[in-house]
Amino acid sequence: MADFSQQVLKNIDKAAEYLKNNEVIAFQTETVYGLGAIINSDEALLKIYSLKNRAQDNPLITHVCLKEQIYKIAKNINKTAEVLIHEFFPGPLTLVLEKQKHVSNILTAGLDTIAMRMPSNKIAQKLIEKTGIPVAAASANKSGRPSPTHWKHVVEDFQDEIPCILYDHENQFCDFGLESTVVLCTDEKKLIILRSGSTTKEDIEKILEKYKLNTEVNLNKDLEKTLCPGMKYRHYSPKAKVILFNPLAFLTAGTKNKAAVLYLSELQESFLEKFELKYKFTNNSEYAKNLYKLFRECDQKKIEEIHCEIPSISGLGLALRDRLFKAKSQC
Ligand code: TXA
Ligand code: MG
Repeated sequence: MADFSQQVLKNIDKAAEYLKNNEVIAFQTETVYGLGAIINSDEALLKIYSLKNRAQDNPLITHVCLKEQIYKIAKNINKTAEVLIHEFFPGPLTLVLEKQKHVSNILTAGLDTIAMRMPSNKIAQKLIEKTGIPVAAASANKSGRPSPTHWKHVVEDFQDEIPCILYDHENQFCDFGLESTVVLCTDEKKLIILRSGSTTKEDIEKILEKYKLNTEVNLNKDLEKTLCPGMKYRHYSPKAKVILFNPLAFLTAGTKNKAAVLYLSELQESFLEKFELKYKFTNNSEYAKNLYKLFRECDQKKIEEIHCEIPSISGLGLALRDRLFKAKSQC
């Protein structure tokens, strides 16, 4: 690994200077590390796509530090969106809203909508504040790789391709470890969760109920691919083969390969002993926080198969299942 000591930064002012000079930098958020650029420089936005090898039809999320910034970029913000902004911003929720005309087509990949999020991580907030312009950011991994949850993962994927990685020296791991929940919010009566994340369907429904809003929340899998371009690409994948198992089903003989197991349930020793590496989680939050880190660790340890328990379908289990199924898929 290259010596990255010059690029890993605690200095927010310096990181903001890079952004203002149309450079692309990485920065920590509460979900995963982002690869960011200011939204009013097409030159800088294009660099994000090329650095990540990202398809140009896959739009970026705009990160803001003030609610006013949302109203300068999006339009026709309905009552439901206002409630979600009030209750969940800052935090791991991204809202897809109608965009204003002046917004760059490179940022939104030509769509009429824009994805907006306000990170709760203090370093990310200060960075956006000091930059003075909203920051577009994608997860700071090469396309298809697991998202980075520690600055060392950003170094693995980008080595010396970017001038700096801004991190919180007191807590270098991202709090949640999975990307934000993305919700299409252009119809106030019908929300569509395009990507599940740490803000769960249940969290959103509870708030809608609190405000007595008669709004449906759907997880529309068929629509996802057209409405959320990013969902059609292979994602989150380690080099190792990912194998999923249900602890309630009969556990088969296991593996002859160098394998790891990630699990939540009490499992029989006769099953576990077949694995070289074993990681047990006490709950879904711990599973989510460590998933990408362990995918990367397993690759470094030349693990050939990663067997992952499939969590139940409620709460954060939904986001975990989504990432696990995508990591398993070969297309
Ligand atoms: O937690 C996160 O969301 C992280 C951190 C850095 O903020 N960012 C992130 O960005 O995961 P990225 O680029 O890896 O994923 C953004 C997702 C993609 O699936 C993209 O297609 C979708 O958001 N997206 C962006 N703009 C959209 C829009 N206007 N309509 C529908 N989907 C959109
Ligand atoms: Mg990503």
